[in-house]
Amino acid sequence: MLEDHIIESIQDGVLVINEEGIVVKINTEYTLITGVEREEILGRPLSDVRPNAQLVQTLTDGKKRTGVFRKLQGREYVVDMAPIYEEGKIIGAVSVCKGKDEVVELLDLLNVQQKRIQHLEEVLHSNYRSNYTFENIIGNQGGLKGTIAVAKKAANVTFPVLLTGESGSGKEMFAQAIHQASQRTNRAFIPVNCAAFPKELMESELFGYETGAFTHANKMGKSGLFQAAHEGTLFLDEVGEMPLELQVKLLRVLQEGKIRKIGGVKEKEVDVRIIAATNQNLYERVQKGLFREDLYYRLCVIHLKVPSLRDRKEDLPELVEHISKNYTVNDRKVVVSREAMRTLASNAWPGNVRELKNALYYALSMMTTHELEVSHLPEAVRTQKQPISHSSQTHTDSSLADYVQIAEQQYIEQVLNQFEDSYSGKQQAAQKLEISVATLYNKLKRIYKG
Ligand SMILES: Nc1ncnc2c1ncn2[C@@H]1O[C@H](COP(=O)(O)OP(=O)(O)O)[C@@H](O)[C@H]1O
Ligand SMILES: [Mg+2]
Repeated sequence: MLEDHIIESIQDGVLVINEEGIVVKINTEYTLITGVEREEILGRPLSDVRPNAQLVQTLTDGKKRTGVFRKLQGREYVVDMAPIYEEGKIIGAVSVCKGKDEVVELLDLLNVQQKRIQHLEEVLHSNYRSNYTFENIIGNQGGLKGTIAVAKKAANVTFPVLLTGESGSGKEMFAQAIHQASQRTNRAFIPVNCAAFPKELMESELFGYETGAFTHANKMGKSGLFQAAHEGTLFLDEVGEMPLELQVKLLRVLQEGKIRKIGGVKEKEVDVRIIAATNQNLYERVQKGLFREDLYYRLCVIHLKVPSLRDRKEDLPELVEHISKNYTVNDRKVVVSREAMRTLASNAWPGNVRELKNALYYALSMMTTHELEVSHLPEAVRTQKQPISHSSQTHTDSSLADYVQIAEQQYIEQVLNQFEDSYSGKQQAAQKLEISVATLYNKLKRIYKG
């Protein structure tokens, strides 16, 4: 019969009893694992041959049993048991067993993997250091000077800081500099991008979870980033994207200074300095009901506004010098032509210093002498199509399709420049463009091939 063949081909030991407790089926693997002969057991009441067999109880209590350890006649194995139902009535029960060696092997493997994960997590955490200090923050115009002054004061206290400013304007830099200048400098600086995780994952990342809190959770449980940032600083980037449910939990941690793991009961005190950042108008999100007002006020005890690059164009030469100073072409220090500097200064830089950096890196890759000319700059910067200028000569004689394609390409590049050059940056760019990440990658492939 087909079912006999099926049972036979299962790689675990299988034994089936009927509602009277009589053994009706076993496979060869079962005899190998337990050492029982087929003739000895088949057709006989299980309790006669295997006294204490819990499978018989399954017939009466209908309970599943998993991971039951058995040691009988020198054989050790692990058994899972379950009743078999037909139309709501128990008509038998099945037991599936694995030899102990196999289970031990699997446990060993699991152990090794868990150690690896733990090691990787430690490596990851030790990489979470802050690199920037106030000395690395270049410029002082457009209000930057005042922001730096307040930020330096913020380093002496542990109240939460809220950094607002456009993408690429230097918020993360400020967060790192504050941490470095604070008494927490020898402790962890842990950045979390609140937009990069789905809700459930972010909760477990932040707070950790207890043993067996949910399916697929690491069996040993896991400590969260709050724990890792103990006595250090937690940088909540793009905090405006934090889901409302998590905002409630964050607020509680800030109020009580204690965290509780998912699935846990014990609370643990943590001493974490929070620095949050957003490129959104957070107060507007409060008014729209997307961000909790109480959390907003808690986060912005010290509010630092980081000016955008276009509001501090006077800082441009110093920034350009700073970014290009370590580069040489033909052993000569890079110099930027007056014309190129003028072009740089006349751009709008929606992606701020990050975009400026990218534009200069592009130019540095294009140069063949040490002089950086306008022609080396990326097309979008050279032609200042931010947004596309409709009077532009180059477009009046191209087909509509070409024009649309160029416009699309420029806009994609412009949006990409506003985010990190990473997968999560691409995710955010795709979200902003309202296309899927796959579509974005396809478009990029086309752009860079063409
Ligand atoms: N004032 C500045 N001086 C020097 N580099 C800056 C400055 N502001 C930003 N940068 C550089 O620009 C890039 C983006 O800065 P980042 O702090 O990540 O911006 P944000 O967090 O606001 O998106 C980083 O490479 C950073 O080093
Ligand atoms: Mg950032």
